[in-house]
Amino acid sequence: MSKEIFLTKYCLITSKTDLQGRIVYANADFLKYAGFSMNEILYKPHNIVRHSSMPKAVFKLLWEYMKEKKEIFAFVKNKSKNGDYYWVFANVTPSFDSSANKIIGYYSVRRQPNKKAVDIIENFYDKLLKIEDTEGINASLKTLNEFCKSQNKTYNELMFHLQES
Ligand SMILES: Cc1cc2nc3c(=O)[nH]c(=O)nc-3n(C[C@H](O)[C@H](O)[C@H](O)COP(=O)(O)O)c2cc1C
Repeated sequence: MSKEIFLTKYCLITSKTDLQGRIVYANADFLKYAGFSMNEILYKPHNIVRHSSMPKAVFKLLWEYMKEKKEIFAFVKNKSKNGDYYWVFANVTPSFDSSANKIIGYYSVRRQPNKKAVDIIENFYDKLLKIEDTEGINASLKTLNEFCKSQNKTYNELMFHLQES
């Protein structure tokens, strides 16, 4: 049986990827919660910790934001090597070369998520998953955008608001 693991209050899980999303750095907290050794994850695609109950739309948005050179905030359910899972509140950013224009990789910092926000997000992600199964990813993205609009916030504003409230 898989069980939920909870991040401690001051823990920060960080990782860096190359342009293809392959892990080129992971800190000790990353290895601790994901349950992998550095050798097991280096140069592996970041979806090594992907949990099947994460909607595709969230990652599509993540990569769209990266390509547009913007940061993104997201609540993410990740899977450990042994099948356990842990929720994080992630901030993902592109890294630039000295011209400040060309993207050379990506960086993510994850912290303990707000429990109340996770309850809301978990329900919402279930709804998105069902939409993805029946109507596809574009319908799921549309639902995500409509949710933000109904709250009068951009996607990042809404995620940040949920984390802070
Ligand atoms: C810096 C960075 C950090 C990422 N962190 C995670 C993560 O913690 N969990 C995750 O499932 N995907 C993460 N991703 C997204 C993955 O690259 C991938 O898009 C996602 O797991 C979906 O994989 P799939 O499209 O192969 O299903 C991250 C991407 C980047 C660039």
